[in-house]
Amino acid sequence: MATQRTLSIIKPDAVAKNAIGEIISRFEKAGLKVVAAKMLKLDDDKAGGFYAEHKERPFFKDLVGFMTSGPVVVQVLEGEDAIAKNRDLMGATNPKEAAPGTIRADFAETIDANAVHGSDSPESAEREIAYFFQDSEICPR
Ligand code: TYD
Ligand code: MG
Repeated sequence: MATQRTLSIIKPDAVAKNAIGEIISRFEKAGLKVVAAKMLKLDDDKAGGFYAEHKERPFFKDLVGFMTSGPVVVQVLEGEDAIAKNRDLMGATNPKEAAPGTIRADFAETIDANAVHGSDSPESAEREIAYFFQDSEICPR
């Protein structure tokens, strides 16, 4: 498996819990490198565009409301099999179903405030990274 990049977002609930460091530490301990990072307060357009694939879903409005409720930390993670590795570290979308020791099991309680986002495929990773970062803001190392 080749080196990949994936987009991670530490969502407003986890930022509010002061868990930024603990979450990034899990990525680093798993061998993923942060090659870009910034803190942002999303507005409705930016959050809605990011989650455009879910536009017709019943939870879309609440999802945008949640993602704009406080600052987020967006990062590009790089490493071997980074997309699947990050999804494994995150755990299931619903924290109640997330495996013990995963980020969502440890830092979230409900599906609508579930601590982290991670790209789910090479195609989404490419789109999502470009959605938040210019090439010049990514620092390979
Ligand atoms: P999704 O892409 O299905 O999950 P994941 O974040 O694991 O890739 O959904 C995007 C987000 O939408 C999810 O993290 C939380 C929210 N969501 C709900 O609030 N209710 C739901 O029933 C689903 C499926 C998602
Ligand atoms: Mg998803």
